[in-house]
Amino acid sequence: MAGNWKMYKTPAETIAFFDKFRPLVAQSNHCEIVICPPFTNLAAAVESARGLPIGIGAQNIGWAKEGAFTGEVSGSMIRALGASHAIVGHSERRQYFAETDGTVLKRTQAALEFELTPIVCVGERLEERETGRTEELLVTQFQNGIAGLSESQFARIVIAYEPVWAIGTGKTATPEIAADAHRVIRSQVRAKFGRAAGDSVRILYGGSVKPDNVKSLMAQPEIDGVLVGGASLDPVSFASIVNF
Ligand code: PGA
Repeated sequence: MAGNWKMYKTPAETIAFFDKFRPLVAQSNHCEIVICPPFTNLAAAVESARGLPIGIGAQNIGWAKEGAFTGEVSGSMIRALGASHAIVGHSERRQYFAETDGTVLKRTQAALEFELTPIVCVGERLEERETGRTEELLVTQFQNGIAGLSESQFARIVIAYEPVWAIGTGKTATPEIAADAHRVIRSQVRAKFGRAAGDSVRILYGGSVKPDNVKSLMAQPEIDGVLVGGASLDPVSFASIVNF
């Protein structure tokens, strides 16, 4: 159950979040919990989550170890702060910051190189859904991105299916729509990396996940977890998602 805070919260607000969140998930050992705050809050989040089974992740990761890349933050830097995960290829990165399947692959490989678990995002836009090209788009994103990993690299990633039309819009994909997309992705995984990889890869659903719809999404055997934006900013709401 992963939370993506996007560009919200200061370090002080991060500490306040964890003070409220900690007791609410103290007994939650049924799943892995990951919170991805902005880079500037990673240190505060790692410190606040110390001793708890909560992973902390970045929302993006540079593809080089270091160098003249103004504005980028590398995997070695993220790792040095004690983070364990990195979101890669979020649709907002693709839409506003010219992220491509090629750069998503490079960033995914960088995360793996620095022993961070990449949460690799894919998903169609409304236009593709409405013109019946969802499957084609998911296949293209897979083939041009994730398929470039080796088998051993692939074994260490998490995939997040996030239909762009469902992000921050309040329009959740129905559990059936989400499960269909997950099946498309999983069949790509099987074809490229083998049956066992297809069975074991974790695929999260993201897009307007809330406390009141998480249960029906998680009831789909195809859906292994969720990536939550807006509803992860509030400790009570994210805890009730985690404890669905
Ligand atoms: P949302 O965002 O839950 O606010 O729709 C999900 C995401 O972008 O990861």
